[in-house]
Amino acid sequence: MHTEMAQYYDLIYAFKDYHAEADAIKACILRHNATPDQRLLDVACGTGRHVEHLSASFHAEGLDLSPELLELAKRRNPGIPFHCSDMRTFDLSDRFDVITCLFSAIGYMASIADLKLALSTMANHLRSNGLLIIEPWLTPEMWKPGTVHALLVDEPELKIARINTSETRNGRSVFDLHHLIGTPEGTRHVVEHHEMGLFTVQDMTSAFEAAGLDVTHDPKGITGRGLYLGVRPHE
Ligand SMILES: C[S@@+](CC[C@H](N)C(=O)[O-])C[C@H]1O[C@@H](n2cnc3c(N)ncnc32)[C@H](O)[C@@H]1O
Repeated sequence: MHTEMAQYYDLIYAFKDYHAEADAIKACILRHNATPDQRLLDVACGTGRHVEHLSASFHAEGLDLSPELLELAKRRNPGIPFHCSDMRTFDLSDRFDVITCLFSAIGYMASIADLKLALSTMANHLRSNGLLIIEPWLTPEMWKPGTVHALLVDEPELKIARINTSETRNGRSVFDLHHLIGTPEGTRHVVEHHEMGLFTVQDMTSAFEAAGLDVTHDPKGITGRGLYLGVRPHE
């Protein structure tokens, strides 16, 4: 995330229904384990919008790489612990009943090696019978290079036009998000470069298994991108 763009994250993703998504995640968790007082860690929590809703039912915490997004998450969720760390290498010396990683953040793993590292790091923070819920990025079949995308934020004193063209490079999805940001002070141009791994269902399933988890895949999930559920077997 471009540091300057963090302040606009919630406006850009205002179309997402975090409340409904959190409710669907909660239902998934309770189907697996209906015990009260479960501890949940949201990895790559961004501005803490899922945490905001999940903390009504679970003892929630968040973790993200971006200090700017975490500042917003903390402001939104006073009293909730947030950790600034990389999903591949974090070590909280703690175990959770549930770990979530939503809105395709796992796609920031640009290689199978990094994907495996992130999944095993998350699995190591699960209690026995703990649940890992991952909402994946697109598969190679779903990714359409050469398509053009646009999004508009239209507030009285803030206009953002975001345009990008999808490309594939070295087997990865690559896109530069060009933002034209208009405020009463003037209009500026900020480009955010993204490279995300394109993993098949087999790649994802194998990475869960390599992390020692029993995995199931729901191809639809909470937003249509699918959902992987991994359970740490009883020790
Ligand atoms: C598309 S956003 C999703 C944020 C949040 N889960 C949501 O639903 O709004 C991707 C998030 O992944 C985070 N991220 C990217 N690479 C990361 C890494 N290596 N470790 C932890 N977080 C990372 C970004 O900072 C960003 O907050």
